[in-house]
Amino acid sequence: MVTCILYYVRTYMSDPDFSIEVKASTVLPHEERERIITLCSESFGRDYRPFMDTFIDSTHVIGYYQGLLVSHACWITRWLQVEDNPLMKTGYIEAMVTDPFYRDRGYASEILNRLIEELDDYELAALCTSFPEFYLPLGWQIWEGPLFIRTQEGMTPTPGEPVMVYFLPNSPELDINASLSAEWREGEHW
Ligand SMILES: CC(C)(COP(=O)(O)OP(=O)(O)OC[C@H]1O[C@@H](n2cnc3c(N)ncnc32)[C@H](O)[C@@H]1OP(=O)(O)O)[C@@H](O)C(=O)NCCC(=O)NCCS
Repeated sequence: MVTCILYYVRTYMSDPDFSIEVKASTVLPHEERERIITLCSESFGRDYRPFMDTFIDSTHVIGYYQGLLVSHACWITRWLQVEDNPLMKTGYIEAMVTDPFYRDRGYASEILNRLIEELDDYELAALCTSFPEFYLPLGWQIWEGPLFIRTQEGMTPTPGEPVMVYFLPNSPELDINASLSAEWREGEHW
């Protein structure tokens, strides 16, 4: 008997008018930072600036349509831990957004795939989202185990929006039903 498993993988024709650049926050031009904050604030329905201000050493993957910044994601470094195993250097994704006029052209998918390629010295990629449906066809998995934030008082459980992970070539073997924790941070914990 031949078993055939079909996976849904989102693919788009690549768009010659769309280009991607990767920029560390230290060299991100002020006007591009402002445009990213505006796009995020409008798309997430809240002022994104205070949250963006908490990102230390972010690296931005930016998509341009004919030179106009239309899509973006960034990563920061966080230290995730499964049970009490060693901390894992994790590329933690934030601010995934596409200008509403330019959506459904595959731009965010391209940005995210490019971002993953940049994480060659990381052990894991992760993010927190209320829209896992967008990430599942791109190879991301929902972390099924309980979530915690590590604080000085101990481990604080954090039920809420799902955390998703993407396994990288350097990822150790992980059980997605085990507990997963991240270090405390200001603003949104996950
Ligand atoms: C999610 C988002 C970044 C996708 O940008 P995009 O450039 O349109 O993405 P792509 O063109 O690569 O992919 C579009 C696909 O994502 C799906 N998608 C978009 N938003 C979605 C959502 N909120 N929930 C589920 N699926 C979604 C589309 O239906 C489409 O799927 P299809 O190809 O099967 O039809 C964009 O819709 C956006 O900026 N949303 C507001 C901010 C946000 O929700 N960010 C991510 C959450 S952390």
